[in-house]
Amino acid sequence: MATNADSQALLLQLLDPSNRADPYPAYDRIRAHGPLQLPEMTLNVFSSYQDCDDVLRHPSSASDRIKSTAAQREIAEGAEARPMGPPGFLFLDPPDHTRLRKLVSKAFAPKVVKALEPDITALVDSLLDRIAEQGRFDVIADLAYPLPVAVICRLLGVPIEDEPKFSWASALLAQALDPFISFTGEMPDGFAERMQAGLWLREYLQDLIERRRSDPGDDLMSGLIEVEESGDQLTEEEIIATCNLLLVAGHETTVNLIANAILAMLRHPWQWAALGADAQRVSAVVEETLRYDPPVQLMGRISADDTTIGDTTVVKGDTMMLLLAAAHHDPAAFDRPGEFDPDRGSIRHLGFGRGPHFCLGAPLARLEAAVALSAVTARFPQTRLDSEPQYKPNLTLRGLSTLAVQV
Ligand code: HEM
Repeated sequence: MATNADSQALLLQLLDPSNRADPYPAYDRIRAHGPLQLPEMTLNVFSSYQDCDDVLRHPSSASDRIKSTAAQREIAEGAEARPMGPPGFLFLDPPDHTRLRKLVSKAFAPKVVKALEPDITALVDSLLDRIAEQGRFDVIADLAYPLPVAVICRLLGVPIEDEPKFSWASALLAQALDPFISFTGEMPDGFAERMQAGLWLREYLQDLIERRRSDPGDDLMSGLIEVEESGDQLTEEEIIATCNLLLVAGHETTVNLIANAILAMLRHPWQWAALGADAQRVSAVVEETLRYDPPVQLMGRISADDTTIGDTTVVKGDTMMLLLAAAHHDPAAFDRPGEFDPDRGSIRHLGFGRGPHFCLGAPLARLEAAVALSAVTARFPQTRLDSEPQYKPNLTLRGLSTLAVQV
């Protein structure tokens, strides 16, 4: 069993920005140690596929961080329980999670999402038209980012003209998901700035809700306002938290799926050509990217009870960190896990999570990625890398900041 210091040293490798371009060797080292337990930090880190899957399915796995020993200690010392208002339902448990998820799930149902395909195709075509004129492009700035952002803004009823105002806030909130405090016990640099971004986005959404109250549209925000006004199912604070969650999820995840798939194919040029020639391959490429280089690299749960995961006993109130990206490269679960192989057959990845919090946006993310990837490979068969890809600092929502290519 690794000591506290050994375990922490392994976890610090993940936080080290120099491992961001290729964190997989660090994940392999962690998985080789088995589950890491850091009792002083009330932390348990799981990295095998079996353990991550078990935690996600376990009835004692909670998502509300307020149930953690660390949060309970702070509250006992006088801290306010939820200084920023209620969290998005990603961080809630039943019954609130069930109630809030149900209110928005219709808008993301596969059939409803499928109806967006013509709009998404038109958006992708217009982005590719612009690229065709340039001869080279940045996958992030010119395709992978603008597509999901335009789609989520339209769905929510957030004016796309406001995008430059809130994209920085969204980026900072994504960084706030990194497990810096869990792994180090210390506040990260930039903590105050992230709090500020959170407050700013809440105020922005609150103003927008007031505008939509008097001038509703056929968007999700107007729909939630209608529910709020018609009874006691939903509060304004909950509308803000829900829109905040959807806006950030729409900004910081699908961009990385599209870009990670493009990078993997450019490093395996046969895959680029094969998809360009046969759009039917796209779903296999998307699913293998979600396994091989997942946009969400880790997630957390709180143990609501004393629990056993595999051979590991977890104390009630402890944090359980699940390294999905490590689980996806677990040789016990996948043959040749380090190889990008869309033809490997059924791919049971955890890229969208599993269980009651399974990603609500999965059908939308899959559709956006499928349309973008099949179109870009068909239209620009000679695409190649122009320079070394650059990564953002984020660990949890890891992704490229630039990916320059020539067409
Ligand atoms: C490739 C893109 C995406 C990936 C990889 C992804 C991944 C995930 C994962 C792993 C979870 C589970 C988190 C947990 O259990 O703690 C999740 C939940 C969620 N995702 Fe996504 N997501 C993506 C795109 C989106 C999009 C586009 C939206 C909506 C605009 C979205 C909305 C949500 C919501 C609302 C939840 C919380 C569900 C719940 O708690 O019940 N996601 N996502």
